[in-house]
Amino acid sequence: MGEKTSILFVIVCLVLFKSGGTAARPASSRRSLLDNGLGLTPPMGWNSWNHFNCNISESLIKQTADALVSTGLAKLGYTYVNLDDCWGLKHRDSQGNLVPDPAKFPSGMAALADYVHNLGLKFGLYSSSGHATCSGTMPGSLGHEQHDANSFASWGVDYLKYDNCFNDNISPIIRYEAMSKALNSTGRPIFFNICEWGDMRPALWGPNVGNSWRTTDDITDEWDRMICIAHLNEFYTAYAKPGGWNDPDMLEVGNGGMSYDEYVVHFSLWAISKAPLLIGCDVTSITNETMSIVGNYEVIDVNQDSLGVQAQMVRDFGEQEVWAGPLSRNRAVVLLVNRKLMTVTISALWSDIGIPDNVTCRVRDIWQHQDLNTTYQGMLTMHLTGHSCMMFVLTPIS
Ligand SMILES: *[C@@H]1O[C@H](CO)[C@@H](O)[C@H](O)[C@H]1NC(C)=O
Ligand SMILES: *[C@@H]1O[C@H](CO)[C@@H](O)[C@H](O)[C@H]1NC(C)=O
Ligand SMILES: *[C@@H]1O[C@H](CO)[C@@H](O)[C@H](O)[C@H]1NC(C)=O
Ligand SMILES: *[C@@H]1O[C@H](CO)[C@@H](O)[C@H](O)[C@H]1NC(C)=O
Ligand SMILES: *[C@@H]1O[C@H](CO)[C@@H](O)[C@H](O)[C@H]1NC(C)=O
Repeated sequence: MGEKTSILFVIVCLVLFKSGGTAARPASSRRSLLDNGLGLTPPMGWNSWNHFNCNISESLIKQTADALVSTGLAKLGYTYVNLDDCWGLKHRDSQGNLVPDPAKFPSGMAALADYVHNLGLKFGLYSSSGHATCSGTMPGSLGHEQHDANSFASWGVDYLKYDNCFNDNISPIIRYEAMSKALNSTGRPIFFNICEWGDMRPALWGPNVGNSWRTTDDITDEWDRMICIAHLNEFYTAYAKPGGWNDPDMLEVGNGGMSYDEYVVHFSLWAISKAPLLIGCDVTSITNETMSIVGNYEVIDVNQDSLGVQAQMVRDFGEQEVWAGPLSRNRAVVLLVNRKLMTVTISALWSDIGIPDNVTCRVRDIWQHQDLNTTYQGMLTMHLTGHSCMMFVLTPIS
């Protein structure tokens, strides 16, 4: 994609962003969050949609769960195995139950959840807060919230992605609260992902209702779209905290639409934004290159840091961005992003990061897994090739 198209896309993105209006101040209390004890750090795992769309099956899910273990991804924290749309029949049975498609899931969902649980992993499922799911191939849960929540709990579901299609224009707050309450009354802690696409600014009401809320429309496997979504999501930084996270959608790393460096930017932005890290590629055939991105334990550590503060874009020198946020143990993380196609120089100023100018920091490059040989005071300056990033953890030493 050329620079011109790219600039145009970003402008369109910014217009969308501005039309979002101003966000009210977030409720600051942990008590305002949905109290199911889940999501103290952003969820990590896999979801079927970005790579497989509707083409899912019991064998695919089992192989994926096996692959999460055999690749070591599970040990790194990727524990949720989440089915997306198209797992069920078009009609409920005579008792009003959702029915897993027997052609795709011959053993049923409880058996599949058992399989996943026996590997030490967690099982996620999908529905919509409308009268059908987005594919139109199965019923949604609108008006059937408690009935379906009971099914999910009885099957051993640990995570629900709850979509927004065919919703009859009923207020999302009403629709998502209904499912939140239904899940709660099953007695089973189920991570609740509000997939409302950011339309009615769910960051403002989501913390009382779910453990994460989509802040944007769907991601696609394209650089411009990925960058756009990261920016839209950044608008709601103040609302993310342990127990409830902004969700800029699932990862595309490994699906082939971006270069290696672009996927490194994608993963870095999601990690520093405390976004859910839900791998969206085929992990049964994951490449070493993709593993080297989603398997970067130092970048994962930033995402899973116990402080749980989403980073902000603290400076944008016109397609040259500085993102920063605090980490536990008095450290900070800094991400430099070059959105230009040419090599540029970017400086991160301590004053932008929130570190006093006279403080000297040890700096670790967490993509190179190297401590830099000099310490830095006041700022750091780096050269970045086109569409690439560098990510550093800063530790004050004076
Ligand atoms: C249900 O909500 C109550 C009150 O917020 C909370 O204490 C409890 O842990 C919740 N239970 C589940 C299973 O989510
Ligand atoms: C669906 O997935 C199966 C393997 O899981 C594959 O053989 C088949 O080609 C896929 N079909 C489509 C339409 O992608
Ligand atoms: C991928 O990594 C594994 C383990 O580190 C190694 O054995 C294998 O040769 C690598 N494959 C390729 C294609 O580089
Ligand atoms: C940095 O400056 C502040 C304010 O001037 C001062 O209080 C502090 O002692 C200084 N710290 C160092 C390490 O020099
Ligand atoms: C730091 O110095 C060592 C030894 O001189 C060198 O091997 C290493 O590459 C240097 N690291 C960086 C990040 O420049």
